[in-house]
Amino acid sequence: MKIIIGCDNAAVGLKNEIISFLETKDCEIVNVGCDSKEDPTYYPEIAKRVCEKVQESNYEARGILICGTGLGMSMTANKFKGIRAALCHDCFSAERAVLSNDANVLCLGERVIGYELAKKIVDTWLPLKFKDGRSTAKVALMNKIDSDNLK
Ligand code: RB5
Repeated sequence: MKIIIGCDNAAVGLKNEIISFLETKDCEIVNVGCDSKEDPTYYPEIAKRVCEKVQESNYEARGILICGTGLGMSMTANKFKGIRAALCHDCFSAERAVLSNDANVLCLGERVIGYELAKKIVDTWLPLKFKDGRSTAKVALMNKIDSDNLK
C-alpha cells in the first residue's frame, strides 16, 4: 500500500506521529509537506498535491490529509475527480468510510483529537478494502455524480 500524506502548518506534529506509525506497517510513504510550523503553504495546496498523486497512481495509492480541523482538507480533496475523502475522528467512521463509502483519502484534525486516537483511526482505516455488496450501487452513483461534475 502506498500512502501519500500531507498537512498544513497546524498539523506538523500529528503528521510526524502518523508517519512514524506508518513506518511500522507494510507501506510506502510519500510525504508532500509541510515539514515545519513556519511553512506558510495553505491547506488547499497540500490537498492538491496529495490528491493529484492519488490520481496519478490510478487510485492505487491512498491519501492522508491533516490540518487543524481536517475540514479544509476534506472540502478541498473532494473537489478532485475520483477522490472520496472522509473526515474521521472515531474508529467506527473510519471503518465505515472504507466499507460503506470506499474512501481513498482519510482526513484528520490535529486540534480535534489526540495522537493516540488518530493512530488508532489510521490503523483501522489502513487494512480495510471496499467489497462489492449493498454499498456498491450507492458508491457507483456517487462516482457518476463525480464524473458528471468534475473534469
Ligand atoms: C489553520 O490554517 C486552519 O484553518 C487549518 O489548519 C484548517 O483547520 C482548515 O480547515
